[in-house]
Amino acid sequence: MLAVLSGSPLSAQVQTPAPPVVAGAKARWTMRYPGVGLLLCFGLMASAVVGAGDGGGKIVLTVHTADIGPTISRNIFGQFAEHLGRGIYDGIWVGPDSSIPNTRGIRNDVVAALKSLHVPNVRWPGGCFADEYHWRKGIGPASRRPATINANWGGVIEPNTFGTHEFMDFLEQIGSQAYVSVNVGSGSVQEAAEWLEYLTAPQPDTLAAERAANGHPAPYKVAFVGIGNENWGCGGAMSPEQYLGQLKIFTHYVRSYDAAQPLRRIAVGSDGGTSDYTDTIMKAWQNRVSNWDIDTVSVHYYTVGKWPPHYIATGFGEADYAAVLNEARRMEEVVRSEEAILDKYDSQKKIGLAVDEWGSWLASTPGTHPGFLEQQNSQRDALVAALGINIFVRHGDRVRMANIAQMINVLQAMILTSGSKMILTPTYHVYQMYVPFQDATSVPVSFDPGAYTYGDIQLPRVDAIAARDRNGKFWVAVTNIDPVRPASIELVTDAKHVTAASGQTLAAPHIDSVNTFDAPNTVGAKPIAAKVAGGKLGLTLAPASITVVGLE
Ligand code: AHR
Repeated sequence: MLAVLSGSPLSAQVQTPAPPVVAGAKARWTMRYPGVGLLLCFGLMASAVVGAGDGGGKIVLTVHTADIGPTISRNIFGQFAEHLGRGIYDGIWVGPDSSIPNTRGIRNDVVAALKSLHVPNVRWPGGCFADEYHWRKGIGPASRRPATINANWGGVIEPNTFGTHEFMDFLEQIGSQAYVSVNVGSGSVQEAAEWLEYLTAPQPDTLAAERAANGHPAPYKVAFVGIGNENWGCGGAMSPEQYLGQLKIFTHYVRSYDAAQPLRRIAVGSDGGTSDYTDTIMKAWQNRVSNWDIDTVSVHYYTVGKWPPHYIATGFGEADYAAVLNEARRMEEVVRSEEAILDKYDSQKKIGLAVDEWGSWLASTPGTHPGFLEQQNSQRDALVAALGINIFVRHGDRVRMANIAQMINVLQAMILTSGSKMILTPTYHVYQMYVPFQDATSVPVSFDPGAYTYGDIQLPRVDAIAARDRNGKFWVAVTNIDPVRPASIELVTDAKHVTAASGQTLAAPHIDSVNTFDAPNTVGAKPIAAKVAGGKLGLTLAPASITVVGLE
């Protein structure tokens, strides 16, 4: 059966396939159609013609250019940088006296690499670190800043050298927006309110004067504020009701003084399994009479399997590959279940969902500090990234933000550094290839996804999204999940003949291929070999690969 995939209200999302009725028979795919009729009919008609996804034959992928879906918020390509391990120190900050080329202490190589990702926002300073962070310790002359202990992450010394001004400088250098998480667990409302006043006040009040004395007379721009982090866990082990009480007070008093930049307030929501926070907050939000409000509720979901993290990052086989991608695709269930709660209390979709921590959380690299969460990043992680982004796009009417964890040297990173050396991970390349999707309009794409089966695990063989960018150009991203069989794709549109196409593909010698400091280009994006004939584009996708193509 054909699946129609898009973020459009007309969309249908592929769900976990039911087991085949007969061994060897094609999996049955169930679909959800919020208000679609015509497109489904079209899809089913097409499926009768195609139906080749399983058997290894040609897969026809149709882009429905006339159907307009929601905007793919560029904020779903957000990043997360916590004071954790070598994420900030070494990863971003080397200090102005370092022999590593830097601008005001911030690594030039990292800035250049991040610039080409067009990073829309960076969440900082945590994570669990945020609920123990006291911003005043990170301003003023570096020599006078106190050294504190990073109790969450290895008990190492936090020098507070990278603080508010350094973070905002970093954002300016990479061209991104601030997502600041304030301390609810061990901080006060006053502390958080004053931090935002220090950052944003244009009037010459005492906090703005202090900001100016510390080198930045002009107010900073802050786009997002997170009210705490995981307050059901490391952020104070609060009950949903306790957190709700804090949320109301914090959102009332923590404000931006920048009239031109509305501050979007993000409440802590689900841990990806239990949604009592989301339900409690949304119920109170629907019935609110007092002066508090939010714009977004968050959810955290890691591709981890069982805790503690045990999937190895390199040297794994197909069993681990299939298991990890199966976990990655569970994101769709998580998003769907959060959506159901949001829909219950907010049918007009005023409140967005932010998946502000996600990605693969694997066993730490042997020999590294276990509290630093360092892991290599393979072609499998590239697929985790692509499948996750595709899910966000398909749910773009609700998912308006996502922050992969974490940007540099921690968990599913974009970049790894070692002294003066820097490498780009396979995940980095996915983010770079997907840049055309930022703020594009999603459009439905229909195809028979077929199935890739390993043991008890069954996944779609291919996954795809499509969008129209601001210049009217159509883009398609296709992932071949099957690690053994190449996928032969025939790409067509419903409206016009494809006359030319260009794009990139990310393939690797093996599913566990990684980039290393000795071999930094083992996995990298390469131009596609596109064959356009008769208005159709023919593509052969390598096993376990991701391809992004722009159509003319
Ligand atoms: O990203 C690592 C940690 O995972 C974050 O600090 C915390 O919020 C989550 O549990």
